[in-house]
Amino acid sequence: MVRLAGVTKEYPGGVAALRGVDLDVGEGELLAIVGPSGSGKSTLLHIVGTLDRPTAGTVEIAGHDVATLSDRSLSALRARRIGFVFQAFHLVPGVSARDNVAEGLLYSGLPRAARRARAAEALDRVGLADRMRHRPHELSGGQKQRVAIARAVVGEPDLLLADEPTGALDSASGEAVIELLHGLNSEGATIAVITHDAQIADRLPRQVRIRDGQVVGDVRDVRDVRATYEQGAVAR
Ligand SMILES: Nc1ncnc2c1ncn2[C@@H]1O[C@H](COP(=O)(O)OP(=O)(O)OP(=O)(O)O)[C@@H](O)[C@H]1O
Ligand SMILES: [Mg+2]
Repeated sequence: MVRLAGVTKEYPGGVAALRGVDLDVGEGELLAIVGPSGSGKSTLLHIVGTLDRPTAGTVEIAGHDVATLSDRSLSALRARRIGFVFQAFHLVPGVSARDNVAEGLLYSGLPRAARRARAAEALDRVGLADRMRHRPHELSGGQKQRVAIARAVVGEPDLLLADEPTGALDSASGEAVIELLHGLNSEGATIAVITHDAQIADRLPRQVRIRDGQVVGDVRDVRDVRATYEQGAVAR
């Protein structure tokens, strides 16, 4: 689903946020991206989400080399296949929760009424059925975060990228979000989640550790490998 090779990102001013990152993510994986503040996690996720381009190296998403795609094909790839939960929510001010979520389907080709119906379902899924009409400034931080999650998942993306999706949530709401991600993953979505929460990271099948713009660790859960092996053994 994702293949990064030698990805480097230098911001103007000379900060090297990523330095030669190689990363492969298979279809249907669920992985945590962990590392200290400023290590390059959000930069990495933006590049995987095709929201930003690397300074050097190649990015392939679902077999497409992103650098060779026209702006139009890239927007189509992003709109149809990728869902993004931003660290800072990025909700549209003055617009209801429901319309913020429906915005995630703007390029889906669905008529407005269908987009709004799907948005209502997605808000229900994140426990905000009773906040559809609220505008961002009328929502709590955790509720805004859940609206951002609903907007990212409403189009049922193949690839869901979430930057600290539980950062503004209490532990019960955080737990509900992680369960939602597990559910989407078991329905087939490939998911990468940035998290500072070690308890959350420990429970995901793969952990990629970033430090100073480099991948310094990539661990798969042994239990998970064994489960895969046992499934294989049964199939044989
Ligand atoms: N637009 C930008 N221009 C210049 N430097 C930037 C820009 N965005 C990020 N950086 C720098 O790049 C480095 C990596 O930033 P990034 O946002 O990827 O870190 P992060 O791992 O997501 O951190 P956090 O956990 O605090 O969110 C940081 O040193 C940051 O200051
Ligand atoms: Mg970040």
